[in-house]
Amino acid sequence: MSKILILYGTDYGHTRKVAQHIAEVINERGHVIELVQGNKPPRDFTVYGFDGAIIGTSIHMGVHQISVKKLVKAQKEALSKIPSAYFCICLTAYSSKAEDKKQVESFINDFLKYTGLKPVVSTAFAGALRYPHYNFARRYMAKLVARKVGADTDTKQEHYEYTDWNAVNRFAEEFVGSI
Ligand SMILES: Cc1cc2nc3c(=O)[nH]c(=O)nc-3n(C[C@H](O)[C@H](O)[C@H](O)COP(=O)(O)O)c2cc1C
Repeated sequence: MSKILILYGTDYGHTRKVAQHIAEVINERGHVIELVQGNKPPRDFTVYGFDGAIIGTSIHMGVHQISVKKLVKAQKEALSKIPSAYFCICLTAYSSKAEDKKQVESFINDFLKYTGLKPVVSTAFAGALRYPHYNFARRYMAKLVARKVGADTDTKQEHYEYTDWNAVNRFAEEFVGSI
C-alpha cells in the first residue's frame, strides 16, 4: 500500500472532478490518496512522506494556475525521488486538428519545463464548460476557444463536458503500474 498525493489546480472545479475520479481508481487498487488543491494549499504543504504524486492543472487563456506551477517547482527535489504523473485539463484537447494537438503538447511542455517535473506519464484531457458561471469577459474568451476547437458555443447551457473518462482510467492505471 502506497500513499499517493493528487495535487490539482482548478478555477471552476472540473480538474477537481478529474482528480477525484483518479483518486477513486487508485484507491480501488488499495492505495491511500490525499487530494490537495494546489491553488489553495495548506500552509505547511510538503511532498515529503508521499510514495507517489499526480499533478493536474487547467488552462485558462493559455496558461496554467501559476500558484500550482510555483508550488510544484518549490517541491522539485522531493518530487524527483518518487514516481509522478502529470495531466493537463483544457478545451484544446477536445480537438483532433494537428495544430491543436501541438498546442496541447506545448501546454504540457510548458508545465514540465517550468517545474522540472519528470513524470512517468503525462497527458491532457478535454475539460468542461460552464458558461453561466463565467463573467462576461470570461464567457467571451471561453466561447472563442470553444469555437476554435469545435466545442459548444451556446452560452445558455449550464454544463458541457468533453472528458474521455476511459482515457482518465487508463492514465490512472498506468501510473499505478509504475509504483
Ligand atoms: C475564461 C476561460 C478561458 C479558457 N481558456 C482556454 C484556453 O486558452 N485554452 C484551452 O484549451 N482551454 C481554455 N479554457 C477551457 C478550460 O480549460 C476548461 O473549461 C477546463 O475544464 C477548466 O478546468 P477547471 O474547471 O478545473 O478550471 C478556458 C475556459 C475559460 C472559462
